[in-house]
Amino acid sequence: MAEHQHSDGGTAAQLWDEKYRSRARIWSGEPNPQLTAEAADLPPGTALDLGCGEGADAIWLASRGWTVTAVDVSAVALERAKAHARERGQAGSITWVQQDLATWVPGELFDLVTAQFLHSTVMPWQQALQLAAAAVRTGGVLLIVGHHPDGLPPWGQHHDHAAERFYTAEQLAGELGIAAPEWRLDVVDTRHRSAFGPDGEAAALTDAVLRATRLAAR
Ligand SMILES: C[S@@+](CC[C@H](N)C(=O)[O-])C[C@H]1O[C@@H](n2cnc3c(N)ncnc32)[C@H](O)[C@@H]1O
Repeated sequence: MAEHQHSDGGTAAQLWDEKYRSRARIWSGEPNPQLTAEAADLPPGTALDLGCGEGADAIWLASRGWTVTAVDVSAVALERAKAHARERGQAGSITWVQQDLATWVPGELFDLVTAQFLHSTVMPWQQALQLAAAAVRTGGVLLIVGHHPDGLPPWGQHHDHAAERFYTAEQLAGELGIAAPEWRLDVVDTRHRSAFGPDGEAAALTDAVLRATRLAAR
């Protein structure tokens, strides 16, 4: 894997492996709610899941007939994701890729590119999400979901520089140039939901949701 050294001395892989090793499981094991809401009616094809973590979204997509490429920088997260996929009988439809999105470029285009909460202290979101948009084939769908700066999870270490590190759906569309005539904007939304943190604590969260269909190649 290509490794990108960051200013705090650790690579993204080291930082995220350390976070994953801190607990036997970090995420709920359930697919993200905005993914299931937005992708349930799409005809299955090829999907790219960027920052797939412990794999719940990739496994859900595979269970619905998608052929999935799931990318994450953390080998620890990917080992868990592979094990979960085997347990659920979905291993055959998912290719797990350990790469740093600061340097990796996919070699193909996809029918669906999803990035769910691909936030990082060491990588500007614009960089990885430009990659996401560029990987959507003509006729395909881009789905980006992130924490809205006004509704961050209280259990995260998110609050420093929140205005730079997080985005609204409108900011996303503007920064990534998701606009006509190249794109049709399907959803540009702010959604409130309740969720439980790693220790079972309840919180009200706000998601930024962008869904767009690519109408033409760039
Ligand atoms: C907040 S977690 C979200 C995981 C998953 N999408 C979910 O919603 O459960 C962000 C994920 O992005 C991954 N990630 C962060 N920076 C990355 C990078 N530079 N390259 C690849 N993956 C990265 C992390 O390892 C982590 O699994």
